Amino acid sequence: MRAKLTYTQAIVEALAISDYKQIEHNAMRLVDLSQQGGWMVHDTMAYAGLSDDFRNRARTLAMGSLRNDLDLTTDHYAQLLDSCIACHDHLKQQRQTKDMPGAVSSILETDLDIRARADDARRRDLTNTILALLQKRQRPVPPPSGPGAANVVY
Ligand code: HEC
Repeated sequence: MRAKLTYTQAIVEALAISDYKQIEHNAMRLVDLSQQGGWMVHDTMAYAGLSDDFRNRARTLAMGSLRNDLDLTTDHYAQLLDSCIACHDHLKQQRQTKDMPGAVSSILETDLDIRARADDARRRDLTNTILALLQKRQRPVPPPSGPGAANVVY
């Protein structure tokens, strides 16, 4: 499950430098991931629906990024994050209601509540993306690191 985070972070990084190929690549990895057996850890209609929604949004992000449009791509990315939050919220809620005496399987929170929180998260995320963008612009190019880096003479 943590692989999702790695691909998502790679997308943020790519957004900051408008690297559309990297966005497409990582969004498609998210699509692949959501089709693997390990993804379907909950065998419910709700989980399947949330998974479909996530997969569609990841695919929209991947395809849309090929148009090299930063606003469009950022918006698709925010919509993808909404679907991360929607599923995690759903899981949290299931955990909360599962053990309650007389628990019923109804949804306690309305879609509107979920939307409102997703919007907050989206705003926060967009702010972070923009901050990262600004930082990237100002930061000097770091020296190379990794194997063989010591051989580089300045
Ligand atoms: C369809 C449901 C679903 C979607 C969509 C989803 N996740 Fe998850 N995620 C899970 C499940 C199930 C787990 C396992 C832990 C749990 O049951 O809460 C998990 C766990 C994680 C974890 C590990 C949490 C931990 O405590 O180790 C991370 C990080 C994570 N998801 C990130 C993401 C990101 C980022 C996205 C969107 C790009 C995303 N998830 C979308 C279902 C989902």
